[in-house]
Amino acid sequence: MSSAVEIQNLKISFPKKQILNGVNLSVNKGSFAALIGANGAGKSMLIKAVCGLQKFTGNIKILGKDLKEANKNLIGYAPQNNTADKNSPVSVYQAVSVGRFAKNGIFKKFGEEDKKIVDNAIRIAQIEYIAASPLGEISGGEAQKVSIARVLAQQPEIILLDEPQANLDPNSQKTFLNFIEKLYLSFKFTCLMVTHDIDMIPKCCEKVFMLKDGKIVLDTDNKDIKQKAREYGIY
Ligand SMILES: Nc1ncnc2c1ncn2[C@@H]1O[C@H](COP(=O)(O)OP(=O)(O)O)[C@@H](O)[C@H]1O
Ligand SMILES: [Mg+2]
Repeated sequence: MSSAVEIQNLKISFPKKQILNGVNLSVNKGSFAALIGANGAGKSMLIKAVCGLQKFTGNIKILGKDLKEANKNLIGYAPQNNTADKNSPVSVYQAVSVGRFAKNGIFKKFGEEDKKIVDNAIRIAQIEYIAASPLGEISGGEAQKVSIARVLAQQPEIILLDEPQANLDPNSQKTFLNFIEKLYLSFKFTCLMVTHDIDMIPKCCEKVFMLKDGKIVLDTDNKDIKQKAREYGIY
């Protein structure tokens, strides 16, 4: 099985703080994996490093290529807390279209094919009813769906989701989780999802990585995670 994301000896530090101290992990192509750990463990930093948005030492390979040479368009990233500026005049449709620019670069003309792909992503994410709304006027749950639709419009091979359910109430969290699971089962992209909430790991998830004290302390299948996490004193 070839790996889509391979991380070796990843270290991230700030002048007064070592955040990651030798992380190793590998996500197989086409699989769903979860990265868990307490708040402040460094999960978001790790994801940003994989997107090329955070300086690090060590090695990150994307579909077999060193991150520096890898095609970043293949990675779709939905950041944590992506709530829009309340005054943003940008529409949901425009925000989803950004996925096409992430795919093609900003200089390629937005054509008929791009429009079709954006319409389709909006339909799959079930946000047609707000397509014309300004981003500043939608709810936190809707904003998460817009973020996912943007990533889908990019048609990436690898999707990185950072706490996608974080701003939702418990009921919407479950619905959202089912939504992510359905997407994954229909499209079979590679997914690495970050969450601090063990209950948010979907059934389709095959691998779970636990981050603690700057390292992956557990690299396991998706079974008895609560108990394992307790053993490692993570929660
Ligand atoms: N620019 C920065 N300088 C110093 N420390 C930072 C900076 N950004 C984040 N941190 C620290 O890095 C740690 C990991 O942050 P983060 O990756 O966001 O954690 P998580 O996503 O697991 O909750 C936190 O303790 C945070 O305070
Ligand atoms: Mg985080």
